[in-house]
Amino acid sequence: MSFFDYRDGVLCAESVPLPTIADAVGTPVHVYSAGALRQAADAFTSALRDLPSARFAFAVKANPNGAVLRLLAQRGYGADIVSGGELRRALDAGIAPANVVFSGVGKTDRELIDALEAGIGQFNLELEEEGRVLAQFARRRGSRAPAVLRVNPDIDGGTHAKITTGRRTSKFGVDIAGAPDMYDRLAQLDGLDLQGLALHIGSQISNLEPLEAAYRRIGELVLELRARGHTITRVDLGGGLGIPYRPEDVMPSLTDYAAMVARVTRDWNVCLTFEPGRIITGLAGVLLTRVIWVKPGVTHPFVIVDAAMNDLARPALYDAYHRFAAVRPDGRTMVANIAGPVCETGDMFGIDRAIDHVDRGELAVFHATGAYGAAMASSYNSRPLSPQVMVDGDTFELVADRTLPHDTSTRRQNEPRTTGPAFNGAMPQAA
Ligand code: LLP
Repeated sequence: MSFFDYRDGVLCAESVPLPTIADAVGTPVHVYSAGALRQAADAFTSALRDLPSARFAFAVKANPNGAVLRLLAQRGYGADIVSGGELRRALDAGIAPANVVFSGVGKTDRELIDALEAGIGQFNLELEEEGRVLAQFARRRGSRAPAVLRVNPDIDGGTHAKITTGRRTSKFGVDIAGAPDMYDRLAQLDGLDLQGLALHIGSQISNLEPLEAAYRRIGELVLELRARGHTITRVDLGGGLGIPYRPEDVMPSLTDYAAMVARVTRDWNVCLTFEPGRIITGLAGVLLTRVIWVKPGVTHPFVIVDAAMNDLARPALYDAYHRFAAVRPDGRTMVANIAGPVCETGDMFGIDRAIDHVDRGELAVFHATGAYGAAMASSYNSRPLSPQVMVDGDTFELVADRTLPHDTSTRRQNEPRTTGPAFNGAMPQAA
């Protein structure tokens, strides 16, 4: 069942016609479906239900909206965080500190201390020194920090170069070759309660093979660490499962993923943690936008919409494809370049695309923007951050306002504005 579908020729989010949302809050606006979120959240946990013990930590970076996090918390998800800001959001959403996993290659002292004080459940160590510093902070507080060591298995996830993380040369994790000796050293620290391993080889992975290969390497490492006398009780398998962005995309099924995990981890005898992000929220959101102009172009017209790369950075950053569809399609199609208004050549959502025919003033959506959409928004070109709306059945709620992050200038409110000469069009004189 699709939660974004046409009724009487009008695209709806669940039972709410998208024009109703555009009228209420304006465009551009990120629209989420609570039903789609629940369905994706439950599909993931129920596929993996038969594993002896599994924990689910939603990767907050994919969608940190408080309403999204609350919904996921109610369905048993903890949080995988990468900053103090994400820690705050997770706790504010009612996620128990014990269900928070702290990933991230550059945790500051402040962030480590705050997370210790909050009593989070797991630190994923990215380098030996981080373990030593964390152990010191914990000892000072008379506690032991629960931790696992993130290992880089040197497996290419086979995804876009900017979101692959498991190659040896990437900044993430510690080299698997040196991991056993490093583990020996870290396990001796008083302030650390080292319980196992973590990995994450990349995002939008469309094939189970690299995941399976990476998991197998970690399995071998578990055996080796046990042979060295360590008690290994946890392995964090990260996230990374892809979603279909294009109609023709075929992604591994959750059933196949679960079967692979069960097969590979059968003898591990550990508690597994999963850190899914995109697969939970990606398909549960659309970016609703209005066509400002249809501008003639040399080859094809430019459909210039009021959403831009600051609302959805993925096309500009990774050449990502997001399906464009009219809210009231009339059956005609056109070939066009879809552009945002930001003053960057790269602010394009699609080039030479066959799309629904649209005219000035009409509404359209970009599909599958629920992960790494609003999460990566900026206010570039002093464009406000777009609002976010959660639809549930036939109701909807504003879950983030349209805001322009405030001016950072130090000028006080009533201070006179300028000191220099007024610009009068004269060219400056060379000195
Ligand atoms: N765990 C760790 C340690 C991660 O670094 C990530 C994502 C995840 C879990 C969640 O991965 P997912 O299940 O969502 O694939 N902005 C990019 C994606 C960056 C992913 C960063 N790490 C994009 O828009 O494609």
